[in-house]
Amino acid sequence: MQQKEMLYEGKGKKLYKTDDENLVISEFKDDLTAFNAEKRGSEQGKGILNCKISSEIFKLLEKNGIKTHYVETLADNLMLCKFVKIIPIEVVVRNIATGSLSKRLGIKEGEALPFTLVEFYYKDDALGDPLINDEHALILNCVKSVESLDVLRKIGREVNSVLREFFDKKNLILVDFKLEFGVDKDGNILLADEITPDSCRFWDKDTKEKLDKDRFRQDLGNVKMAYEEILKRILN
Ligand code: TMP
Repeated sequence: MQQKEMLYEGKGKKLYKTDDENLVISEFKDDLTAFNAEKRGSEQGKGILNCKISSEIFKLLEKNGIKTHYVETLADNLMLCKFVKIIPIEVVVRNIATGSLSKRLGIKEGEALPFTLVEFYYKDDALGDPLINDEHALILNCVKSVESLDVLRKIGREVNSVLREFFDKKNLILVDFKLEFGVDKDGNILLADEITPDSCRFWDKDTKEKLDKDRFRQDLGNVKMAYEEILKRILN
């Protein structure tokens, strides 16, 4: 597989073309950003950790019947993926209130939600990724029909079921996470992007210690150690 020119550079990854038009290579970066990149940092080795974590999670999801863009891990920080057109919606799935939900609605941080909440945010940095409803998503042409939004919600809940149970066995609480989806050349909706401590919140079940990007967002220190701990528990 030959790596060709860069297609796109995001906050956490670079995307490269390959000699196969249906495949791309995703390079996981060490950069860390928060609050729409108002806060920037870097953690040497984070890209490798995230590539390994995301690879393991995509393999687990595929094993459980969830279709993803993952093809194979090519090197420490390089993942081969199917080429998809990204749907500009960030699907956030929440089990426990924290972050922007607590801030927006005043629900106490750490309170278990009575049911799993799925939210849509419009993926637009200039607008600061605003929370949107189904009608907004249709008006913004994010998808063609409300059925596609139902598919995103359904897959979001399925991913939650698989991951919540998996991480529970690793003594971790899956607090919330963000998913992105893309459409492949045949029109299939595939889970895309990454699933890492950059895009999820994990708390230790016993100590409630935060083991994710909140350590960077909130200046808690030991960012890399937290990501290493997540990989270690996934592999054990
Ligand atoms: P929030 O509470 O800040 O809205 O975050 C909800 C979840 O989504 C959390 O697991 C972190 C993740 N997330 C991203 O992956 N990217 C983002 O840009 C934001 C704001 C959150």
